[in-house]
Amino acid sequence: MLTQIWKVNEKTPDDNIITLAANVLKRGGLIAFPTETVYGLGANGLDESAVKSIYLAKGRPSDNPLILHIASLGQVFDLCRQVSLAAQVLMEKFWPGPLTLVLPRMSHIPDVATGGLDTVAVRMPDHPVALALIRAAGVPVAAPSANRSGYPSPTQAKHVLDDLGGRIDGIIDAGPTGVGLESTVLDMSGEKPVVLRPGGVTAEQIAAALNQEVYLDPGLANPEIVPKAPGMKYTHYAPRAEVILLEGSTEKIVEKVRELADHYKSGGRKAAFLLTKETWREVGKVPHVYSRDLGSRAQLSEVARNIYAELRASDLAGAEIIVTETYRQEGLGVALMNRLLKSAGYQVLKL
Ligand code: TXA
Ligand code: MG
Repeated sequence: MLTQIWKVNEKTPDDNIITLAANVLKRGGLIAFPTETVYGLGANGLDESAVKSIYLAKGRPSDNPLILHIASLGQVFDLCRQVSLAAQVLMEKFWPGPLTLVLPRMSHIPDVATGGLDTVAVRMPDHPVALALIRAAGVPVAAPSANRSGYPSPTQAKHVLDDLGGRIDGIIDAGPTGVGLESTVLDMSGEKPVVLRPGGVTAEQIAAALNQEVYLDPGLANPEIVPKAPGMKYTHYAPRAEVILLEGSTEKIVEKVRELADHYKSGGRKAAFLLTKETWREVGKVPHVYSRDLGSRAQLSEVARNIYAELRASDLAGAEIIVTETYRQEGLGVALMNRLLKSAGYQVLKL
């Protein structure tokens, strides 16, 4: 299969291209498109065989349900049989945006899209290209992140091409995505709101909007407990290289980075260093196969935006080991640490 690539302007995408891509979706094809979080791999969410082909292209386990992407608030009521007032408050406040709501589903949604669950995940992405595509397709667009299953999510069109080139019909390229981590998945189908996957909208923001306590799925903090979002139980977000997470004061991290860099060099091992601006300032130069400044600790949104691209770039540079740092688990730091811990297999080097 030849994968077409269409470059568009992020804010004012060409109508002809959007129509072309929407027509591919309508006839059951697969189109990767940008959202504000990461690139998604879209199919007509109501077409069973189109949705099946998403799993095939990604190599995704079939019990891992998809998010249905919509472009207007009204579409929620075509997909969900019960939309609580609290859910509506969140829709008004955070949509379009990086918040996915899990709600009781309607029965006409194909089981393949929901992993056979009694709920469905829905979100309205905050990206003009995604919204234009969904509108033109005229259907909810089922879309997981557009990576091969298990690998870090794509934040640039070239990541999608690397993973899925030849396996999908087309990619709409609107440049790098803004948030860089996947949306928050919030279960609103039960009695209390539960975060199943931390993301761009924080638990604190949700609690403030609802004026109600928000819970975290226990499976998030403890790798021994099976998480409620089926996707969170798999090895995920992991580059091929081994990831080493350093936790401690800047002084201790700096010392360890220098020590590790010398150690790997003398052992003939290829190491990448993905560190914060603050750490680099003290570290200076160390031997490496790849190294990058992820941004400042004071600007976690910058680190979040860069992290997946740099994990991928480290792999491409041939790194066997990626040395990086932990972050304080508050605000966006909760989502960032959730992904980093998974990519490191929950191993943290405490200094
Ligand atoms: O930012 C995002 O959410 C991106 C962009 C493309 O929108 N999409 C994304 O999709 O990250 P995906 O498929 O990679 O992750 C969806 C997550 C998975 O962990 C899945 O298990 C969970 O949402 N999920 C989907 N439907 C669910 C449901 N009914 N109940 C519980 N978890 C669900
Ligand atoms: Mg994914």
